[in-house]
This record gives sequence, structure tokens and C-alpha cells, in this order.
Amino acid sequence: MKWIVLLIAAVISAASIYYTDYLVNKLKEREIKSIEVFASSMEYTIENDVSDQLPSVIREIIVNNDEIPLIYVNSNDEIESWRNIEIDKNWSEEKKQNLLRKELEIMKDAYAPKHVFDRDEQTGEILDFWFIYYRNSFLLTQLTYYPIIQLAIIGVFGLIVYFIFSYSKTAEQNRVWVGLAKETAHQLGTPISSLMAWVEYFREDPGVKNKGVVEEINKDIKKLQLITERFSNIGSTPVLKEEKIEEIINNVVEYLKPRISTKINIEVISISDGVRANLNAPLFEWVLENLCKNSVDAMAGIGNIQIKILHGSDYRVFIDVSDTGKGIAKSKIKHVFNPGFSTKKRGWGLGLTLAKRIIETYHKGKIFVKSSEENEGTTFRIVLNS
Ligand SMILES: Nc1ncnc2c1ncn2[C@@H]1O[C@H](COP(=O)(O)OP(=O)(O)O)[C@@H](O)[C@H]1O
Ligand SMILES: [Mg+2]
Repeated sequence: MKWIVLLIAAVISAASIYYTDYLVNKLKEREIKSIEVFASSMEYTIENDVSDQLPSVIREIIVNNDEIPLIYVNSNDEIESWRNIEIDKNWSEEKKQNLLRKELEIMKDAYAPKHVFDRDEQTGEILDFWFIYYRNSFLLTQLTYYPIIQLAIIGVFGLIVYFIFSYSKTAEQNRVWVGLAKETAHQLGTPISSLMAWVEYFREDPGVKNKGVVEEINKDIKKLQLITERFSNIGSTPVLKEEKIEEIINNVVEYLKPRISTKINIEVISISDGVRANLNAPLFEWVLENLCKNSVDAMAGIGNIQIKILHGSDYRVFIDVSDTGKGIAKSKIKHVFNPGFSTKKRGWGLGLTLAKRIIETYHKGKIFVKSSEENEGTTFRIVLNS
């Protein structure tokens, strides 16, 4: 669809340029013709010495040329007269001559001059000669630039329309994200408070013998609270704080470890101690959790996940999440962040979309597939600012 529109635009532009070019050439031909007529009428006037009784038709032609600028120069390269060049009557002779000389240079570059000869009536011998230098009329000059100006205006207009549309589309998507997240956080709030009250009640109730169960339920409620916090963070402008990255990553790893296969090993490596970055902890943990879950899914129960913290240049911090999973096909790499892209039977294809949004919109960082080999593994890189 985009390409069809662009193609049509290109065809219209080409046609417009072609047609204007055609008009310009036609007009140019006519102007050159009229200069030729002017030159021969001058010649006629000189040869027949009829300047006073100039035939009215020729006079018409000469006088009616009120568009094409021309300069009449004698054989000694002296300017004898001119036409259609704007000269103020009050100008000094010097100023006038300067302007005419300048005009003459422009004309010499534009077209070869027309000759006017004074021939001996009997022998045909050339007694004297003049040159008529000329250039395009103002109208023709304007017409030459017309398609360029026209296309520039259309182009600028097109760009503005494009930006307005894409901006309003992004703005709409943002409203959906934010609205959905806020609504979810809000809806979860009520049942969570009620569950917390129930846990308190059961803790005190001597009728409940197995207090261990109550504490397990309490852990799940804590997790629900964390989820609510994430949603409410993504639904507002999250606050970034300088945090020790390794600590946050370890929290996530500790949370994940008991929930995944024991044959999957997670390792956290930091190039130097105490690396800090500006981040929103609940949201960053969410990203990391999504990346690790994808890695687990890619490994079918056995393998290694390595999370490396590296110092980039210029206050940047890299977090590389590598796995020994099945990798991503080359042709699919550019799609993995698209909403709805999933190769899993029960995948929603939103994990990486969310990760990208959290990292790029809220942290002004970057997230991308650093490398991926099929059947060998994948590395995702997160770039944060410190
Ligand atoms: N570590 C990984 N190894 C292999 N494929 C991956 C990995 N991470 C993401 N993918 C691919 O990207 C797709 C999108 O991931 P995601 O947005 O989290 O959605 P989902 O997990 O619901 O499929 C996955 O379905 C998978 O094909
Ligand atoms: Mg996922």
C-alpha cells in the first residue's frame, strides 16, 4: 500500500516535470524565433535605410517584444542599445554601464548571439556588423524553476501529513498501553487488599492448624502486589533511580531459580563491582524476567543462562543475556519485538514488545538481539544509562 502511494506520487512528479519541460522548450523555441525575426528586421532596416518608414508589421514585432531582455552590441563590442532591462532614468552613466555589462556577461553565457549585417547592396560585401545578445524572459525563467518549487512544496506537505499521521498513531498506541496498564493495576488492587486481610485473619485463627500454608499464600499475594506495581508503573511516568544492577539481577535470579528446571543453570557475571545504572526496579525486573523466561522456553529443560554486566563507553551499561537454546532463525530476528510475534503454541508475543517499550521509552536505552545462532543460542543486549 505504502509502495503504491509512493509509485503514484513518483509518476505524477515525473509527468509534471516532463510537461513543464515540454512547455519550457516550446516557449524557448518561440523566444529564439522572435529574436531571429528581430535580428532580420534590424538588418532590413539598416540595408534599406528605412528607419523612419519602418514597415508597421516589423515595428509591431520590435515594439511588441516587451519580454525578452536583449543587448545590441556593435563590432567593437560597444553597447549601442538594449531592451527589457530595468534601468532607472536617474542612474548615473557609470551605474547604468555596469549593470549592462553584467547583463551582457550573463547573456553571453546563455545563448550564442544573433548577427546583424550591413551588406553592400551590389557586391554583398559585409560593411559592418552587430550582435544581438539575449536571454530567457522572466516568464520562461520562472517556468524553468516551477516544477522544482512545486515538487518541493508537495514534498514538504507530504512529510508533514506523514508525521502527523504516524504521531497520532503512536499517541493512540501509547494511550492503549497506558490505559490498559492503569486499569489492570486498579482492578487488581481491590482483591489483593481483601486477600491480605484474609491472610491476617487466618494467621490469628487458632482453627487453622497448618500455618505454613498461610505463609505460602502470603508469598503469592506478595507476587500479585509486585505485578500490580509493575502495571501501575507502566501506566504512569516511572521514576528512575540509580541502582546497583547486580543486586537487582540477583533478586530476579533468586526468584526464578526455584521455578525452573534444576538442569538449567543461571549465572550472573559482573565485569566490575557495584556497577550502577538509572532504572526503575520493578520494570527492569520485568524485562529481565521476560528475557530469562524466553531463554528457558528456548532450551527445552536443560542448558545455561548467563547474565553479564559490562561497562560501555560514555556512561553506558550493557546487560547481555545469553542462553544455549535453539536460537532464532535469521529471517525472524527482525520480527521478535513486533507485538503478536510468537513461535510458541501458547505464546502471546508480547514479552519482548513490553521489554522494548520499558527499555526504550521509559529508560531511553536500547534492547536488541546481539547475536543468535540456530541450535547454539541467543544473546540479547540491554543498554542502559548510568
Ligand atoms: N532466547 C530466545 N531464543 C530463541 N527464540 C527467542 C528467544 N527470545 C525470543 N525468541 C523468539 O521471539 C518470539 C517472541 O518472544 P516474546 O515476545 O517473548 O513472545 P512469546 O514468548 O509469547 O512467544 C518467541 O516466540 C521466540 O520465537
Ligand atoms: Mg516471552
